Amino acid sequence: MLVGLVSAKGSPGVTTSALALASQWPRTALLVDADPFGGDVRAGFGGGDWPPAAGLAELIVDLRSTTLEQALYRRVHHLAPYAPPVLAGLGCVGQSASIPWSRLGPLLARIDGADVVADCGRFAAADGVMPLLRTCDALVLVTASSLRAVRSAARIAPLLQEATGAEAGDPRVSLLVVVADEPYSAAEIADGCRLPLLGEMPKDAIAAAVWSDGARPGRSFARCAMQRTARQIAEKLASLGPSGRPI
Ligand SMILES: Nc1ncnc2c1ncn2[C@@H]1O[C@H](COP(=O)(O)OP(=O)(O)OP(=O)(O)O)[C@@H](O)[C@H]1O
Ligand SMILES: [Mg+2]
Repeated sequence: MLVGLVSAKGSPGVTTSALALASQWPRTALLVDADPFGGDVRAGFGGGDWPPAAGLAELIVDLRSTTLEQALYRRVHHLAPYAPPVLAGLGCVGQSASIPWSRLGPLLARIDGADVVADCGRFAAADGVMPLLRTCDALVLVTASSLRAVRSAARIAPLLQEATGAEAGDPRVSLLVVVADEPYSAAEIADGCRLPLLGEMPKDAIAAAVWSDGARPGRSFARCAMQRTARQIAEKLASLGPSGRPI
């Protein structure tokens, strides 16, 4: 199963939420940093301490001569026991155009024994990552709760539904609100975007810094608000299962 997280604008917390969800996934899950504007995970969660050849660009080269499973075995890095295994992202702006997303998406969607949570970054119709979004079994639009954030989320919601062929209300394209009530409630935002509400990520700067900046987790990290919420949301998403869409 392939689940893509995407934002409309700003930096609402896609990378942070994707890592938190993958860490709490009820089955084996791999986090793929597919942000077309350049991956954040190496420098963020990885704190810059990442094996140089462990990333998406290297995996694409491997795929010329080996299977996806073997390439993943070589290129995926598991940095810490509390974290999901990660395929780090692209290093340069513009590199996204050279990634064969339409070939990679169906492969990631059907890995034997593992689901993939993909950080797809900010949505831009022309960045080349659209074929990856099209192959996702579920897409999550991540937004903050300001008027600016909600306006831009509402603009791209129909484009995501169109990309996946989801009808209105289909839970396969849903909304995740990061820090609701500033000032709009999650229900109001879902209504404005005409998307089903997947959930709300609470404000939890200490836990967020573990995922976004490689801060050391404290003793109560596993029980913190972000991780507990991520568990509930991950279970909801994972229960959708593969879409059965032909690949
Ligand atoms: N639930 C949260 N509570 C508090 N802070 C958060 C939360 N989620 C994310 N943050 C913080 O917000 C900032 C941006 O997060 P993140 O890098 O995940 O955003 P993004 O949407 O991936 O951004 P970009 O589009 O630049 O890749 C980080 O400093 C992160 O620690
Ligand atoms: Mg990001």
